[in-house]
Amino acid sequence: MQQSALLEMKGISKSFPGVKALDKVNLTVRRGTVHALMGENGAGKSTLMKCLFGIYHRDEGTVILDGKEVEFHNSKDALENGVAMVHQELNQALTRSVQDNLWLGRYPKIAKIMVDEAGMAKKTREIFDTLGVTVNPKAIMSSLPVSQRQMVEIAKAVSYDSKIIVFDEPTSSLTETEVEHLFRIINMLRDKGCGIIYISHKMEEILRISDDVAIMRDGQWVATKPASELDMDEIIRLMVGRELTNRFPEKTNTPQEVILDVKNLSGKYTRLKDATFQLRKARFWALRVWTVREELKYWKICLV
Ligand SMILES: Nc1ncnc2c1ncn2[C@@H]1O[C@H](COP(=O)(O)OP(=O)(O)O)[C@@H](O)[C@H]1O
Ligand SMILES: [Mg+2]
Repeated sequence: MQQSALLEMKGISKSFPGVKALDKVNLTVRRGTVHALMGENGAGKSTLMKCLFGIYHRDEGTVILDGKEVEFHNSKDALENGVAMVHQELNQALTRSVQDNLWLGRYPKIAKIMVDEAGMAKKTREIFDTLGVTVNPKAIMSSLPVSQRQMVEIAKAVSYDSKIIVFDEPTSSLTETEVEHLFRIINMLRDKGCGIIYISHKMEEILRISDDVAIMRDGQWVATKPASELDMDEIIRLMVGRELTNRFPEKTNTPQEVILDVKNLSGKYTRLKDATFQLRKARFWALRVWTVREELKYWKICLV
């Protein structure tokens, strides 16, 4: 049976000075489904979600949530009305505890004035137990690896008991086991009847987790199809707007001089370890591939 529409975004446009980031974009998310949103970097995916979440104000278009037209003025408004979002960029209070981060702005109170520390710890444990998250609620955020901080962010979004949850590139800093864990959480939310919007570059992931796939290109909506009718070649064709007969063509350019030489670069809060690479003039696009190996294929594809 075809599930009913839980969220409809129609004709959404948004411009920034000099850039039309969204041009009459449509998106319909059905109840109890995972809706993937795909497109090259800069296609407008995050902007569309920020328009939904009240971070940006759309220039035109309508948003209908559960049959009612809505316009959220800020993210608090969105959260209180059934839309949560896990952002691409983590924005957490690093010097505060995990549970502080979870309840910031909505602390449980005693007699409306005192923060109910015990109540907060209990609620945090309950949410973490339901989701199978093993992070210590008392740990200071900055002491956690980025993947655990990401799991806290995911737990926080889920804790609002929202109708729609947006995951904007959630797996870029997660380990394989954590990705499996996230997928179990997403399946649980789907079974509860939530609508999930899932943004990722990783096509294997998309084809595994999603029911529908919407594709955007240059700020425009290109197509929405059931994931079962798509394969990687078709997704790429829709994303870049032309046939790709040879995904990895022979290089024909002559490498130019080295302008950046990085040796053994490691990050304290990332999985980056001993990265060594050279950046040559006119090859600036290659920089990102060194941190996330799975994206290597994608970036090559985009730049064919
Ligand atoms: N705050 C902003 N100010 C100006 N331009 C922006 C802003 N946010 C996004 N853009 C531009 O809008 C376009 C879409 O960006 P974005 O939504 O982040 O793409 P995606 O998430 O698909 O990679 C890009 O050209 C980007 O540079
Ligand atoms: Mg984005």
